[in-house]
Amino acid sequence: MSRIRVAVLGATGVAGQQFLAALPNHPLFEVVKLGASERSAGKKYSDAIRDAGGKVSWFATKPLVENFASMMVEDAAHMTPDGVDLVFTAVESDAAKVLEPRFAEKVPVVSTASAFRYEPDVPVFLPAVNLDHAKLIEVQRKRRGWKGFVTPGPNCTTVGLAITLKPLDAAFGIEKVVMTSLQSVSGAGRSPGVLALDIIDNVVPYIAKEEEKVEKETKKILGSFSGEGIADAKIAVSCTCTRVNVIEGHTESVFVGLKKKAGVDEVKAAMREFGSDFVALKLPSTPQHLITVSDDPYRPQPRLDRDNEDGMTTTVGRVREEPVLGGVKYMLVSHNTRMGAAKGAMLIAEYLVHAGYIGK
Ligand SMILES: NC(=O)c1ccc[n+]([C@@H]2O[C@H](COP(=O)([O-])OP(=O)(O)OC[C@H]3O[C@@H](n4cnc5c(N)ncnc54)[C@H](OP(=O)(O)O)[C@@H]3O)[C@@H](O)[C@H]2O)c1
Repeated sequence: MSRIRVAVLGATGVAGQQFLAALPNHPLFEVVKLGASERSAGKKYSDAIRDAGGKVSWFATKPLVENFASMMVEDAAHMTPDGVDLVFTAVESDAAKVLEPRFAEKVPVVSTASAFRYEPDVPVFLPAVNLDHAKLIEVQRKRRGWKGFVTPGPNCTTVGLAITLKPLDAAFGIEKVVMTSLQSVSGAGRSPGVLALDIIDNVVPYIAKEEEKVEKETKKILGSFSGEGIADAKIAVSCTCTRVNVIEGHTESVFVGLKKKAGVDEVKAAMREFGSDFVALKLPSTPQHLITVSDDPYRPQPRLDRDNEDGMTTTVGRVREEPVLGGVKYMLVSHNTRMGAAKGAMLIAEYLVHAGYIGK
């Protein structure tokens, strides 16, 4: 079968680069168009990411392949869906609000942006966690009269949180969650990004709009599909989101109040077993384990654990009883630009191909 022809919008940014790092030789997807802002339009990709001083600003650890380096970047505002079966978007929310519906009229759009996450007919899709929310795609198509659709992945901080909460909710029921994040610098992208002067030797105690996003999305992701929309999970979620001096990998400290008493070993077992049916689908970007639980009290650490399973597993450690909320507490590390953005979006698309929502 010939591969699904893909356009990547926002290809020059931090999340967009992770798409290009992961897409060479993908068995299902073939990149045929690259889009970005007017600033990059009409340039060869390697020139579009070259700064005024001549530096090629490629941030991914995997190399930029020649095939993509020599592709011309189009102005996303003028790009058409002609010759494209699927669009991945990695642009800021304001641009996504305009671009995504234009493409979704014709073809599926799998997004890393927040623009449509809170619309009642749009799923915030997280593979293995809420597969049944894919059914909302048909509601969206019908309501909007689109041939395609928009499916955003969650905010990068929500990803590790929702993945680790899901097995706990299924096995023991969750009443309350309190989470504090220590988020990496790459999470802010590169335009304008975080100034070195602000972050070196420092912790910034506020990330605009982040806490609201994580609180809202977690309840939607863990909620149930009602036939017409998603009924939020009845879980109280409260977050503090901070920025720390780490390049990649978001660390989170999570306190969970459970409905049913659970021992630490039961919690670890529920997390370790989570998602085995989904893993068995053997989609190209699926890790062997959605959650990796460490018994080492000094793990997880972003530098040591963000790249586990190519950045696609959430690494959990320090699982302990939590006496104040009545439940369990733990630390997690999740790769914000891979599972939390580009590769997470690819995994969504791979599942939607498997489920028949995306095709040629
Ligand atoms: N970074 C992460 O860890 C992460 C994680 C999850 C989700 N996300 C989401 O991914 C999206 C991109 O974030 P990022 O961190 O990659 O940001 P970024 O590094 O600042 O990149 C932004 C990208 O958007 C393009 N762009 C800007 N304005 C545009 C416009 N009007 N039309 C078309 N393209 C435009 C830029 O192109 P030029 O180079 O031409 O300016 C660039 O390719 C955001 O919605 C963000 O919330 C990011």
